[in-house]
Amino acid sequence: MSLTKRKNADLWIESVSLKSLADKYGTPAYVYSEAAIRHQYQAMQSAFGQQRHQICYAVKANSNIGVLAMLANMGAGFDVVSGGELERVLRAGGDPKKIVFSGVGKSVAELDFALKLDIHCLNVESHAELLRLEERAKLLGIIAPISLRINPDIDAKTHPYISTGLSENKFGITPKAAIDLYAYADKSEFLSVQGIDCHIGSQITELSPLLEAARFMLDMVDHLQEMGISITHLNMGGGVGVNYLDEKPFSIRDYASSLVKLLENYNLDLLVEPGRFLVANAGLLLTSVEYLKPASNPTTGRNFAIVDAAMNDLIRPALYQAQHRVEQVSALDDASALTTELNWDLVGPVCESADFLAKNCTLKLEQGALLAIMTAGAYGFVQSSNYNSRNRAPEIIISKDETHLVRRRETINDQLALESTFPCTLP
Ligand code: LLP
Repeated sequence: MSLTKRKNADLWIESVSLKSLADKYGTPAYVYSEAAIRHQYQAMQSAFGQQRHQICYAVKANSNIGVLAMLANMGAGFDVVSGGELERVLRAGGDPKKIVFSGVGKSVAELDFALKLDIHCLNVESHAELLRLEERAKLLGIIAPISLRINPDIDAKTHPYISTGLSENKFGITPKAAIDLYAYADKSEFLSVQGIDCHIGSQITELSPLLEAARFMLDMVDHLQEMGISITHLNMGGGVGVNYLDEKPFSIRDYASSLVKLLENYNLDLLVEPGRFLVANAGLLLTSVEYLKPASNPTTGRNFAIVDAAMNDLIRPALYQAQHRVEQVSALDDASALTTELNWDLVGPVCESADFLAKNCTLKLEQGALLAIMTAGAYGFVQSSNYNSRNRAPEIIISKDETHLVRRRETINDQLALESTFPCTLP
């Protein structure tokens, strides 16, 4: 499903023109489509068919409570990695019994919060965490539902920063250690073994590492079964890659049907934690050109288009060398437009050379031109910051012809509200 369509040379999301959004809310702005998120969720749901399964949306991908509420209404569960994300899911109306809690560094307060809420499961990532969780559960008089996150040492063949299933990565427990911890947990009065989980990386475009991981996990389930420890769910994490420019990710149908086949002879619930797959291509970042700075020497120089969005708004290009497709939002005013196309580097106002959103984009540009940075619905706004004291962008959900401002643009007063001059005047 394509997020945008052209009507009279203008770009639209559902029944709203991006130009009208820029006029009303200004730029930069994040824009998401309800229909696109629903489409992805339903595609995944139907791909798993009759297999008992639960989609636990990875909140980290896009944690706006409007987006979370939409997914909760569709029946999604949630994968959270902090007390903050847990709170967001609750405020959005998410069901605690469909929440799993991942992450290598859960604090005492976070464990207590999750235990008291009686969430579905805590995905434990180390021996030390298991002991802390048992201690907290005992103190609170609660039995903690657990899964152990296995690090299967499988190469997800993705960017090293988002590869998580290799033994050199900080995530998960080695299979050997996990067997001993399962044996320990099985005997504990305050731990209840529920599942086994893994997450080998993100933006995975080849199916084979995920299936290799699934087979590995099922071998472990067999082994545990032989030890008399029964597992009720297998959680395969997230990782399903999407198309940014010209990637060719595997289809969700192929992934799901292969998993379902592997699970044929098991009495297991399947959990998945997709983030990017559900929201990446449902969102874009709207930005406008502040200045054009074409190269003075076209053979050696570069053509810079300075736009009003920056690395603080979308850090993926700077951090992961990510490439996002750029679309022209409106037809150009021909009289003032450069007549020839140039290769532009889209850069922001932040004082860093890493502040670029795209490089070498062949576009006809003029000052004021509106652009859409595509596939920005996942790991876009959530990774934004106030660097250079820039106000974070608003977030807008489009639902047919309706526009919902689900987060307003920050103001400098919002930023300063938490600070004080020195000497401090706060009590
Ligand atoms: N489950 C766990 C335990 C995770 O750590 C992650 C992502 C997911 C699920 C969701 O993965 P997804 O389906 O979205 O691939 N900021 C990076 C991506 C970091 C992913 C971190 N973990 C980016 O912009 O590419």
